[in-house]
Amino acid sequence: MSSGQFTAVVTGAGGTIGRCLSSRLASMGYNLVIIDTHKINLDALQSKIQSEHPEIQVLALDVNIAAPQEVIRASQVVQDRFKGIDILINNAGISPKLSNGKRIPALNIDDDEWDLVMETNLKSVFLMCKYFIDVLKAKEGKIINIASMMGITGSGVDTNLIFPYSVSAAHYSASKAGVINLTKSLAREFGELNIPVYAIAPGAVSGGMGKFDEDFIKNLKEQIPSHQLGDPEEIVNTLTFLLTSGMSLTGQTLHVNHGWFMGG
Ligand SMILES: NC(=O)c1ccc[n+]([C@@H]2O[C@H](COP(=O)([O-])OP(=O)(O)OC[C@H]3O[C@@H](n4cnc5c(N)ncnc54)[C@H](O)[C@@H]3O)[C@@H](O)[C@H]2O)c1
Repeated sequence: MSSGQFTAVVTGAGGTIGRCLSSRLASMGYNLVIIDTHKINLDALQSKIQSEHPEIQVLALDVNIAAPQEVIRASQVVQDRFKGIDILINNAGISPKLSNGKRIPALNIDDDEWDLVMETNLKSVFLMCKYFIDVLKAKEGKIINIASMMGITGSGVDTNLIFPYSVSAAHYSASKAGVINLTKSLAREFGELNIPVYAIAPGAVSGGMGKFDEDFIKNLKEQIPSHQLGDPEEIVNTLTFLLTSGMSLTGQTLHVNHGWFMGG
């Protein structure tokens, strides 16, 4: 493909997995719309990618994807600049933890924090798909939602339990279950538009949300058959595979977790 012919939108682009996704897509020649609320990381990423790939366009948008008016405004900016998009990656998310880095027991979750997690991780995916559907339709684009293994296994607070073993709390897990389910509903509805909708469900990925102390990581690795955490590049490799799969895998969630969880 020739550089600048295709365009990808990446939310949470300033984070660990988002940076990696954005850099790979840039090296593949995609124009980028990078979205994040962390302005410093967003601006740094824009400068880095633009200097490495002067041949593509990189538009950085400081947008809260949980706020409908901000998403509507972003979709208009993208429509004006690019007309259509080829890929929408709903990657932004939050996973609140206690100040000591531990998970919050379900019944101790603050009501407002529950809402914040649902809005950031799940409602945002609905909003992005709803308000970007016209730019997606223009190029029969693809939607990739970044879910989590926890969206299937649920969480738990006992670090010594072998399985299910969670690095996140109940609100995070429930929100990611919603993402996996929403992926299926949208895949059915967008099938006739020739717009595939997939989810990628990472296990524990180094960096980003996967930052924990050494004992925690050691315990975690003992429970994973490969004894390794995931690498953000593995999530990107899965994405590039999905980009070749057309409608054949629409609605599917691909689990990328080193054998930690095997199943549907
Ligand atoms: N790292 C892991 O171990 C892991 C495991 C499973 C799933 N995931 C999922 O992968 C995705 C990326 O995770 P990561 O590890 O790179 O996390 P990260 O914290 O490094 O990056 C997340 C990014 O999302 C941005 N963001 C948060 N709320 C936002 C909002 N309302 N609007 C716009 N941007 C917002 C943050 O500023 C941040 O840059 C998340 O959806 C996460 O749930 C991560």
